[in-house]
Amino acid sequence: MLKVDRLVTGYRGKEGFVRAVDGVSFDIEKGETVCIVGESGSGKSVTSMSVMRLVEFENGEIVSGSIEYMGEELTTKSNEEMRKLRGAEISMIFQEPLTALNPVFTVGQQIVEAIRYHQPLSKKQAMDRAEELLTMVGLSEPKTRLKQYPHELSGGMRQRVMIAIALASKPKLLIADEPTTALDVTIEAQILELLRKLRDEEEMSIMLITHDIGVAAELSHRIIIMYAGKVMEIAKTEDLFDQPHHPYTKGLLESIPKMSGARGELLPTIEGTIPGLNQMPEGCRFAPRCPLATKKCHEEEPPLERKCSRQVACWHVEEFLASQREASERKEDPVEST
Ligand SMILES: Nc1ncnc2c1ncn2[C@@H]1O[C@H](COP(=O)(O)OP(=O)(O)O)[C@@H](O)[C@H]1O
Ligand code: SF4
Ligand SMILES: [Mg+2]
Repeated sequence: MLKVDRLVTGYRGKEGFVRAVDGVSFDIEKGETVCIVGESGSGKSVTSMSVMRLVEFENGEIVSGSIEYMGEELTTKSNEEMRKLRGAEISMIFQEPLTALNPVFTVGQQIVEAIRYHQPLSKKQAMDRAEELLTMVGLSEPKTRLKQYPHELSGGMRQRVMIAIALASKPKLLIADEPTTALDVTIEAQILELLRKLRDEEEMSIMLITHDIGVAAELSHRIIIMYAGKVMEIAKTEDLFDQPHHPYTKGLLESIPKMSGARGELLPTIEGTIPGLNQMPEGCRFAPRCPLATKKCHEEEPPLERKCSRQVACWHVEEFLASQREASERKEDPVEST
């Protein structure tokens, strides 16, 4: 359904041209939910904004590579063609629904507008459909909600309204960029539950972007791990959790809060920070933070390669897996290993 191939997207700034997404390849199948996971600044949003061809409106530029949607190349489409595709075929929901909703129109007016933009329905028919959509996204008293303004709703309700607007045209691909990051934990769980329901009941592919690998675990069939504008690993969700093949993936997995852990327990995090766009290291971009980094890692960039049913970009996958096996053996048999 969606095939992104060696995508390079960058921005022209004071210090010259920088690449926020640097040779990213992945695909999404029909009906599949794929999560893009990585720390803040990894290029997740730039990737999704490239697919929507929205980077151009933020002084960004798709430099090379291709984005194929249902066999059609998106990078060369005109603005007019993209406008038709956005909303109709591909919809997007964002982190902060308040900024995406118009404060001076009621919820009903905004949903009706979205519906009528794509479907030739009368106002009355569109209003009925709007009510149906609000019910579908789990809002109580939909008739009342339709008459309310965005500021009269809670954050969680507003996100449900945004999802209703995104679903108005029955999109084939829904892109959700950190849709629960601004919400508290209880509401987050409810919105994730809603997305799961939509995933299972609607014939829709979902591209979910999150910095939280725990959120990805809840929903995705496959996970794409991004770091500093590159793809580090792509695997089926259960395979990734069962055995990460990239040191960065392991770091992300270890940063998940463990529910059973003692309160206030310090969680392991990956030391160091993600490099800035104009100070990308040579070789593997994760090398400055990687405990396994060798001279080769600092000098040559590892390509994204197929390993069994997954893809991974690391020079030392075998050594990494061996070190993990040793660590787990030590854990199982602490006496033997001393
Ligand atoms: N409009 C822009 N102009 C310049 N740089 C940008 C712009 N948007 C994003 N970037 C840079 O691109 C990099 C990736 O950003 P982003 O995709 O938003 O990361 P993520 O969504 O993974 O947190 C960051 O270093 C960010 O500063
Ligand atoms: S290539 Fe080297 S530095 Fe990069 S993740 Fe693999 S071991 Fe670490
Ligand atoms: Mg982002």
